[in-house]
Amino acid sequence: MKDMITIHVEDLNGTVHTVEAPTDMGLSLMEAMKANELPVKAMCGGMAMCASCNIILQSDHELPEMGEDEEAMLDEAMVLDVPNSRLSCQIPVTENLDGLRVKLGYLTDPEA
Ligand code: FES
Repeated sequence: MKDMITIHVEDLNGTVHTVEAPTDMGLSLMEAMKANELPVKAMCGGMAMCASCNIILQSDHELPEMGEDEEAMLDEAMVLDVPNSRLSCQIPVTENLDGLRVKLGYLTDPEA
């Protein structure tokens, strides 16, 4: 069992950051990115209520299915039409996400 996975995160400037995240701490992808000082606002603290943790999946990893809250929030935030758009706070860091590549969504922009 792997207890650290590697995640590649492209920021809004197009720079790719490679970070490591533990799989045994019950972290969400949002929390793992924040812990690595990536600019994720996550204003609601992971409640699927703000969409400022939005990411776009860029690798072909299988993510857990969207819950109703996540789907509703993405819809409201008008980012659902971007393919593979998700809320990173709703995605647990698990072993099968090793090598994941995502891009931060525009709603994560701290200047916005
Ligand atoms: S942190 Fe608010 S929706 Fe994910």
